Amino acid sequence: MARIIAGVGSSHVPAIGAALDNGKTEEPYWKRVFSGFEKSKQWMAQAKPDVAIVVYNDHASAFSVEMIPTFALGCAAEFPPADEGWGPRPVPVVKGHPALAAHIAQSVILDEFDLTIVNKMEVDHGLTVPMNLLFGQPKDAWPCPVIPLAVNVVMYPPPTGHRCYMLGKAIRKAVESYPEDLNVVIFGTGGLSHQISGPRAGLINSKWDKSFLDNLTRDPKKLTRIPHIEYMREAGAEGIEMVMWLIMRGALDDKVDEVYRFYTVPASNTAVGHIILENRRKAAGKSRSAGKARAAGKSRQAAARKSTQRIASKGTR
Ligand SMILES: [Fe+2]
Repeated sequence: MARIIAGVGSSHVPAIGAALDNGKTEEPYWKRVFSGFEKSKQWMAQAKPDVAIVVYNDHASAFSVEMIPTFALGCAAEFPPADEGWGPRPVPVVKGHPALAAHIAQSVILDEFDLTIVNKMEVDHGLTVPMNLLFGQPKDAWPCPVIPLAVNVVMYPPPTGHRCYMLGKAIRKAVESYPEDLNVVIFGTGGLSHQISGPRAGLINSKWDKSFLDNLTRDPKKLTRIPHIEYMREAGAEGIEMVMWLIMRGALDDKVDEVYRFYTVPASNTAVGHIILENRRKAAGKSRSAGKARAAGKSRQAAARKSTQRIASKGTR
């Protein structure tokens, strides 16, 4: 059986990708941002997921304003990086997991979530920047297959936080009914507070962001009741991206362990938020290899938790 072992929330600020691509990570402005993800990369290297589901939004790269699906699941074998105006980012082509993606599509659609199935798609910074932040900058290949889930948060009306949360639950059910023994990590990306145009351009609301992160861990159902207008008012026009984190959260246990958090402002004109939440009932490990691998899986997760718990208090809050 496949299982979701953890959720990762991460901003996907395009300027972070540009800083990576242009070798600016050691500049003081950017070092402050990237240093917050060093322990996260260690955690991910230890977690070693077999598959990542990355919830993100397309920024008019794969979908123009002529057609914007609310939820689009990438079922292709690969997803090349999109040209966002200055050439494709120098990152590896994202390899998909068509079998698991098709299984998720079937399960979720039969559970009455009407996903759009996408068999050809390029992916932009919304997906590749969080991949870099958690997996580093591999030259040839990302360390695991990725199933992209693109959510419309660019044209009104985006889905509600509650709908996103419930979709996360449906995705979890789908993953857990997949027969192959896979450890899956799910990403929720975007945000946190930011507005890129208009009279309030540059808006950052750290107090609201941190409250959102607190409740993401402790009381996500409270977050599902936030109306769109509150996201817009408190977190800026693009702060609505935060509903995507609720898909990730819905796919986890009701009670989770927050093993790491990082928050800093600004990056570009955006607040950067990051969180790692682990499911508690992750005793399984790899059942196909029985005890030995199961024990290894447990010990790996325990080691990951130990290391991240050590640094949790050091993360900027
Ligand atoms: Fe975005």
